[in-house]
Amino acid sequence: MAIETNKQESKKLTLSVIKADIGGWVGHSAIHPALIEDAREKLAAAKTSGVLLDYHVSACGDDLQLIMTHRYGVDHPDIHRLAWETFVAGTQVAKDLHLYGAGQDLLADAFSGNVRGQGPGVAEMEFVERKSEPVLIFMADKASAGAWNLPLYKMFADPFTTSGLVIAPTLHQGFRFEVLDVYEHKKITFDCPEDLYDMLMFIGSPGKFTVKHVFSRADGTIAAASSTERLSLIAGKYVGKDDPVMIVRAQQNFPAVGEVLEPFRYPWIIEGWMRGSHYGPLMPVSVKQATPTRFDGPPRVACIGFQLADGRLIGPRDMFDDPSYDEARRDANRIADVLRLHGPFEPHRLPLDEMEYTTMPQIMKKLVGRWVKVEGKKG
Ligand code: 13P
Ligand code: 13P
Ligand code: MG
Ligand code: MG
Repeated sequence: MAIETNKQESKKLTLSVIKADIGGWVGHSAIHPALIEDAREKLAAAKTSGVLLDYHVSACGDDLQLIMTHRYGVDHPDIHRLAWETFVAGTQVAKDLHLYGAGQDLLADAFSGNVRGQGPGVAEMEFVERKSEPVLIFMADKASAGAWNLPLYKMFADPFTTSGLVIAPTLHQGFRFEVLDVYEHKKITFDCPEDLYDMLMFIGSPGKFTVKHVFSRADGTIAAASSTERLSLIAGKYVGKDDPVMIVRAQQNFPAVGEVLEPFRYPWIIEGWMRGSHYGPLMPVSVKQATPTRFDGPPRVACIGFQLADGRLIGPRDMFDDPSYDEARRDANRIADVLRLHGPFEPHRLPLDEMEYTTMPQIMKKLVGRWVKVEGKKG
């Protein structure tokens, strides 16, 4: 592996989560253990050679998750190349097993210095590790980038979710949200609570505006980072869903672990599910249950927690493997039933303007000569 060994020593730690769908088992429902094993071998070698401080390989549905700690900073080519080469090697394993959609998310022929824009999803953050550093990694399957907007709003701006915003002096100043316009490729920051209503106008449209980072207003440190890559915008067609990831730091200047998890009590309706073309409820599940089958869903979110210890990942703890999320799962199934009744009708199926990356343009083209102008008044 072409990893340079110019390791930069710094006090700052980088936590990188880089994920890709490189083949599903069976269909798009899960990951084959051979892919996990192969990725572990690659990251273990990078740890032995001193590139990584530590790593954990996980999966959510058919998406392979590389969780890595190092001291190179975000967007570092060595770390991104390590992830890319791990996905390329795993794709070969997936091809050997004839897994479904082998190499699905690898949209580029060759690595170009950064996996952003090449298919994989990336959430990274750099910070000075606190004396005790609890971090939560959220992973979704059958979901679009933007699926974290509502939960991030709830955990960092809603006092009914995070009581610390009211009663903890370290949270009382609120949080700064960095929001990306994924079509125009520009960003804006909102300081909450005072910018709340302005912000909601935008992040309420998660297909266009996604929360990329959240920062503490007490000391400016990073609180959350999410992956915002939109596969269909990169590929120009539907190739699979974004299935985003997110990192959230908890406790002290940030919401408590339980406040970070609380937004997932309700299965928010998001874009994704079957063929990436339907709205469905985001069901919080254990890693073991993050294997969507019914109508390729409903969409799943799993969360694994770690304590960091000088870059070592002490964990994982499977955070939604808890009976207190049983009602959320039941609600998700009920919502799924109601939405499924609509079949190919909106609001279950995405609206037409969102279907332009599917077969819709071909059908429009085929029928263009059959539309006949209607005389008289509209309506
Ligand atoms: P195929 O048309 O290749 O079966 O893909 C559709 C799909 O992946 C929905 O699960
Ligand atoms: P993934 O994005 O998880 O591969 O799912 C694709 C799909 O079409 C499911 O129906
Ligand atoms: Mg897939
Ligand atoms: Mg997936």
